[in-house]
Amino acid sequence: MEHTFIMVKPDGVQRGLVGEIISRFEKKGFYLKGMKLMKVDRKFAEKHYADLSAKPFFKSLVEYIISGPVVAMIWAGKNVVTTGRKIIGATNPSESAPGTIRGDFAVEVGRNVIHGSDSVENAKKEIALWFPDGAVNWESSLRPWISE
Ligand code: PPS
Repeated sequence: MEHTFIMVKPDGVQRGLVGEIISRFEKKGFYLKGMKLMKVDRKFAEKHYADLSAKPFFKSLVEYIISGPVVAMIWAGKNVVTTGRKIIGATNPSESAPGTIRGDFAVEVGRNVIHGSDSVENAKKEIALWFPDGAVNWESSLRPWISE
């Protein structure tokens, strides 16, 4: 089954959106396979966003991610990477559709509440970084009612 890495960013934690975000992924039919509240240091945040190190917003993005605790999660399910990104909405909240997490709860890109892996390959890398012990291996009894 496909896995993705989802992170509620410090603004999402501060604003009490963790439950709402978990609820949207649960109600869709995805399975929570890992979750922890963490405050990461600069070196860790720079590693997570290493591909963006040349971007002009890199420093402010890192400052934002280390500004408070984040909730790191692994979600599993069919096409969870692509569908998870749809649930999250466009990167810039001014372009995110209503009904998406960013469309409903964010107004600017530098405070866009949530991160989701953008490819299966990056999901594997991000899960390895944030969850070195891997996902929690469990099966939901609802699965036959969600998947053929
Ligand atoms: S890019 O430029 O196309 O590579 O960027 P993009 O894929 O749209 O976004 C990658 C992550 O960078 C964050 N981002 C920003 N943060 C702060 N300020 C500005 N201006 C900005 N632009 C993009 C964006 O939220 C993405 O973070 P994650 O955590 O991956 O969603």
